[in-house]
Amino acid sequence: MSWKVQSNATDINTLLLEESLFFNGNGYIGIRGNLEEGLPKHAKTIRGSYINGFHDIVDIPYGEKLFAFPEKQQKLLNIIDAQGIEIWVGEDNYREKVSLHSGEVLDYTRILHLDKGITERVLHWKSNKGYELIVNFKRLVSFHTRELFHQFITLTPVSKDIPIQIVSSVNGDVKNFADKDDPRVASDDEKRLSISNLSWTDESSFVEVQTKSSKLHAAVLSTVSVSSESISYRYEINDGASIQTIMKMILNKEMTLDKRTFIADSTRYEDLQGSLLAINNKTASLSFSELAKLQQEYMASFWNKTDVTIDGEDQIQEAIRFNLYHLLQSAGQDGKTSIAAKGLSGEGYEGHYFWDTEIYLLPMFTMTNPELARKLLHYRYSILDSARERAKEMGHKKGALYPWRTIIGTECSSYYPAGTAQYHISADIAYSYVQYYLATNDKSFLKDFGTEVLLETARLWLEVGHYQHNEFRIDAVTGPDEYTAIVNNNYYTNVMAKYNLQWAHKFSLLIQEEDPIYWQTLKNKLSLDDSELERFLSAANAMYLPMDKTLNINPQDDTFLQKEKWDFEGTPTEHYPLLLHYHPLTIYRYQVCKQADTVLAHFLVEDEQSEYVMKASYNYYEKVTTHDSSLSSCVYSMMGARVGYLDKAYDYFIETARLDLDNIQGNTKDGLHMANMGGTWMAIVAGFAGMRLKENGLYFRPQLPKQWDGYAFHIQYHGQLLMIRNQKDSFIVELLSGDQVDLYIWDKKYTITTDNSLVITN
Ligand code: BGC
Repeated sequence: MSWKVQSNATDINTLLLEESLFFNGNGYIGIRGNLEEGLPKHAKTIRGSYINGFHDIVDIPYGEKLFAFPEKQQKLLNIIDAQGIEIWVGEDNYREKVSLHSGEVLDYTRILHLDKGITERVLHWKSNKGYELIVNFKRLVSFHTRELFHQFITLTPVSKDIPIQIVSSVNGDVKNFADKDDPRVASDDEKRLSISNLSWTDESSFVEVQTKSSKLHAAVLSTVSVSSESISYRYEINDGASIQTIMKMILNKEMTLDKRTFIADSTRYEDLQGSLLAINNKTASLSFSELAKLQQEYMASFWNKTDVTIDGEDQIQEAIRFNLYHLLQSAGQDGKTSIAAKGLSGEGYEGHYFWDTEIYLLPMFTMTNPELARKLLHYRYSILDSARERAKEMGHKKGALYPWRTIIGTECSSYYPAGTAQYHISADIAYSYVQYYLATNDKSFLKDFGTEVLLETARLWLEVGHYQHNEFRIDAVTGPDEYTAIVNNNYYTNVMAKYNLQWAHKFSLLIQEEDPIYWQTLKNKLSLDDSELERFLSAANAMYLPMDKTLNINPQDDTFLQKEKWDFEGTPTEHYPLLLHYHPLTIYRYQVCKQADTVLAHFLVEDEQSEYVMKASYNYYEKVTTHDSSLSSCVYSMMGARVGYLDKAYDYFIETARLDLDNIQGNTKDGLHMANMGGTWMAIVAGFAGMRLKENGLYFRPQLPKQWDGYAFHIQYHGQLLMIRNQKDSFIVELLSGDQVDLYIWDKKYTITTDNSLVITN
């Protein structure tokens, strides 16, 4: 089955889209799929290179600024552009640039090799003067050497003796993309980087930049070498901001160019130039093909644990692998960074991390690559102090309130009704720690990081909630649905807070038993007394979960059902997404959801409600949900499968799976929709296969859409590797490593060993 995503597009609009689709990344660096040779002047492009978490601090301008509104925010910066390689053909007095938009394009293909972890462009081109050649551009951002962005070009002459001039550039004169009309994209396009060092030797070019306010530094060291003998090097500086390496030769046999760009920032290295030189020296002995082989080995180990196969629909197979691949490329692996809403593929949402990671992305990493999941979880631990401070700013005496959107831990949302008010993010983070524990049984991680996060987030709920008529209630928050804001008793928030409180209590007992000395130290550190634990449990037990007895559904909040329904029939298609056409207050007055809210809560904590209530709620909310957020369809797919609507589950899944490949939301140019990509994995594993992680074990409710002959995936459970296959005639579970696993299929318990696979005949 296919490991390639291919395109022949040369039109400007598709190329803009492909900048996101064909980006290369490794969790540290992300390079958009811009063309080495650039585009015609008038063409819209977002030329971007990013370092995960590399940001500047910018002021948030307010007309009216009230107490505890964040004054500053972080913004991911587009850094030094080292993608440029222009190939010019012809004599000194008349040169033509090899490009998709000049001369004659005889053939052109672009390929993303999902198994190799590289992208490739093959261009068969003829100049107006009749020089003909084939150029093969390969790129990788290395998983072996985190700092390396590698370009490797092969030029094959078709006509004889072609005079060539190659210009390789490193350009520090860059800024971010801005769009004043789209709230999902930054509106400020001020230049935020200045050159702090620019130098070159015969071997390499070095450019270092400094941010305006955060005073962080980023640098690139770039080397170029060609296999041809007849070359002459020259360096130029354009306005003191970029370095060009110019090479001339006569092309009469195949020739290669190897450009290595090493990228780093001052949060990782003190001496950027020295460090990059050392990394360059270390990898100098490895050829491109050796580095490409290491890349492929890394990918193979990722796919061995992570691949999902679908029998019966190649388009979907392509999509699911594409999505998994980009998730890997975007995931911070250093414990200090996470996965931005657009990963490292673009600047949408300014590189901020949201709840997307915990609810939509960690499930995949936790079940397939737990070592990477730990890093993502650790990131939240690393910003726990900021969350504690934010809780204080918001008037709470104790606890941790995680920021709605952030890079380094402080709140970056200036619109609090759909930002800070989404207190649920703290419960979401707690939930992801619990799920990690249930999947891995990793008590040491729980001890070192998880318990503290759970205790501090649980404290927040005691602070923000209150008792009325013996019920514990939470007022003035916003749930996941951003078309309904600042409400009392959002079902999602309350049920997730309950889970948070319950598990803070459970983790505490567990740690107390495992390591009483450590427990005492932690208690002292947090000034925690035992009565607090009791209060966690009492609040959880008394948590008010809204229920409408007439409709048999969980109301989204106390007032949702009292509102008038949005006039869907009278809303023209071009008025979606509503957020770009209506004032928020207009939207807030109606029953209309941007995304799954109560339905998502039913997925995450299913044992709180009966099948009947979940199904009735699904029916109800489906009619008022626009899915204007890309975080929605996958949830309707999973829950469709859960409540017995397999056809609906399939339809929603199709929207999810190819959302970026087919640019369904029209904004993939700004970056890929990471949460939705994780949602594709969830829709298969938690949707069609019905997997749930519960305290007493691993559960499945396998179903197969009629369009498919089967699907298969791997997961890790308590350190053991399982292969799950659902086919038309059978459901099979194999234990590939480990001793024994107990699991529940349609609530019936089975035990599996390495010698004894489970085969259930359908
Ligand atoms: C969604 C949020 C999400 C954010 C970033 C918004 O459109 O409503 O739930 O966290 O995008 O992906």
